[in-house]
Amino acid sequence: MQIVDSRAALQRLSDEERARGLRLALVPTMGALHEGHLSLVREARARADRVWVSIFVNPTQFDEAQDFEGYPRDPERDLEACRAAGVDVVYLPSVEEMYPEGAATWVDVDRLTEPLCGASRPGHFRGVTTVVSKLFLAAKPHVAVFGEKDFQQLAVIRRMARDLGFDVEVVGAPTLRESDGLALSSRNVRLGREARAQATVLVRALDAAEAAVASGERSHEAILSRVRAEIAKAPRARLDYAELRDPESLERAAGTLASPTLLALAVRFEPDPDGSGGAVRLIDNRVLLAR
Ligand code: PAJ
Repeated sequence: MQIVDSRAALQRLSDEERARGLRLALVPTMGALHEGHLSLVREARARADRVWVSIFVNPTQFDEAQDFEGYPRDPERDLEACRAAGVDVVYLPSVEEMYPEGAATWVDVDRLTEPLCGASRPGHFRGVTTVVSKLFLAAKPHVAVFGEKDFQQLAVIRRMARDLGFDVEVVGAPTLRESDGLALSSRNVRLGREARAQATVLVRALDAAEAAVASGERSHEAILSRVRAEIAKAPRARLDYAELRDPESLERAAGTLASPTLLALAVRFEPDPDGSGGAVRLIDNRVLLAR
């Protein structure tokens, strides 16, 4: 496994591999790798000859300094996980490499970035689309794999790649979960014990909405009130948003479920009463189908 920290070296390597006719897949990450990330590596492996992983905790996508500083970092463990997963190249750029002194250029996607996490986290998606553009330009992959757990992120990156004409196929991969249903996330390790036990409330709320739809409920308001009632059962959970939206445009869907509709959730957990754990915001989603 090769570890590359300079963009110029990565671009050279990409040119060489492409000249040999190899198909390159990139899996962008912020490290603290877990099985969810590794499932993207497997998806990438199935679609390409070479799998490249980038690890970069991107400062520009954090809207809270505390979240950036507290973000779990363990490069040695990450490199070991990549090695074990058969990753070919790990790109580990520095902040100075990604954002040279005086960097003034941003990639910004309109509309799709306004609701949901865009509304709760100002500037977040601008940071994501800017860094992913830089990663695409550095690695020049044929295909890039992103998780459906971050549904809005995937939609925004697809739109960006289409609008800017990036020659990269953007692929979505399903959400990997703990055995109790909690979506794997690098932030889960920051949950206190009580918060961790209650964090399954997100998947339970999604299940409740799906069950309501299966039993014939079509009213958005009724579906969302089931979701809110479920979240209210977890005393440490504070609902940030629960919304039904069109899965492609992310526009607010009309009042009745007629076509596949995205249910997107964000929930905040405070530190446990004994002070353990931190303030953590978790997201999850499901596309609801009226059959
Ligand atoms: P990060 O949170 O490290 O996630 C990297 C990739 O792993 C994303 O595509 C994310 O959707 C995916 N992922 C996270 N949890 C997952 C799970 N439980 N199952 C499947 N996939 C999962 O998302 C980012 O980093 C950053 O915003 C990034 C795209 C790297 C830009 O900085």
